[in-house]
Amino acid sequence: MGSSLPRVVRTRAELRAALAAAPRPVGLVPTMGALHEGHASLIRRAASQNETVVVTIFVNPLQFNEKSDFEKYPRDEAADLRLAGAAGASLVWIPTVEDVYPAGFQTSVRVSGLTEPLEGAARPGHFEGVTTIVAILLGLAGAERAYFGQKDAQQLLVVRRMAGDLGIGTEIVACPIVREPDGLALSSRNVRLTPEQRAAAPVLRRALLAARARFESGERDGDLLRGAMSELLAVEPLAAPEYVSCADPGTLAELTTVGGPALLSMAVRFGAVRLIDNEPLP
Ligand code: PAJ
Repeated sequence: MGSSLPRVVRTRAELRAALAAAPRPVGLVPTMGALHEGHASLIRRAASQNETVVVTIFVNPLQFNEKSDFEKYPRDEAADLRLAGAAGASLVWIPTVEDVYPAGFQTSVRVSGLTEPLEGAARPGHFEGVTTIVAILLGLAGAERAYFGQKDAQQLLVVRRMAGDLGIGTEIVACPIVREPDGLALSSRNVRLTPEQRAAAPVLRRALLAARARFESGERDGDLLRGAMSELLAVEPLAAPEYVSCADPGTLAELTTVGGPALLSMAVRFGAVRLIDNEPLP
């Protein structure tokens, strides 16, 4: 593990110059900063498979459907640089909004079907913001590989679809969810939970595991598996579920019967903080 700080580039021109001299292959890890062990696991994976690792830190205004969520999004550049460097980043690209979306910018990338249910239904415009920024980042970085977490399972599917549909030559690599010891999936938004909400938040994981246990004892009825998750969430008064889902992992269509692989997922609010989690079956 290198402990030196990675080199920081901010403009498109600086990125281009740094990449021209960088050993290949290049692995790209797009993030919005407030880096934690989940991000570190992506960076370490990228470092194990590439000569150069570029981490991007950009809180993308286009993908926030709530203004307050954007404004309250945690930012700590110095801590991010230390974590990225320790995990193996060679270059950290921190663009400004003006550099990413220069005056006159008028392009959008929109994936249809896959973006409609779940997070897409709950957060209008969110995925269009994600695919637009990811297309820009992939285009400017020209990396051999880009790393995304299974934590945001729908985002991963949507980004894969976009890269395939547009013929973007970067391999999209999926990385497993990193969790706290009590099962809560690491998220930059966890720091905004009150101590009481933080204590209640592992209920997402317990609900997913309750449905998994029902599946493992032979349950294949989609409604009953969704019901098992809702039942557990209902026990926690601080948790306000937005959706629970048992869906086809390729199309994200809700399943009546689980006949093959499936994706259990949910979004739950704790006051102003919205948490998501998921568990693939089998
Ligand atoms: P952000 O939420 O910062 O996440 C960056 C990457 O880290 C995503 O691929 C996400 O899935 C992954 N990640 C977050 N928490 C994780 C965890 N607990 N375990 C494993 N991976 C985890 O996702 C975004 O940013 C943005 O939408 C972005 C793709 C950067 C586009 O703006």
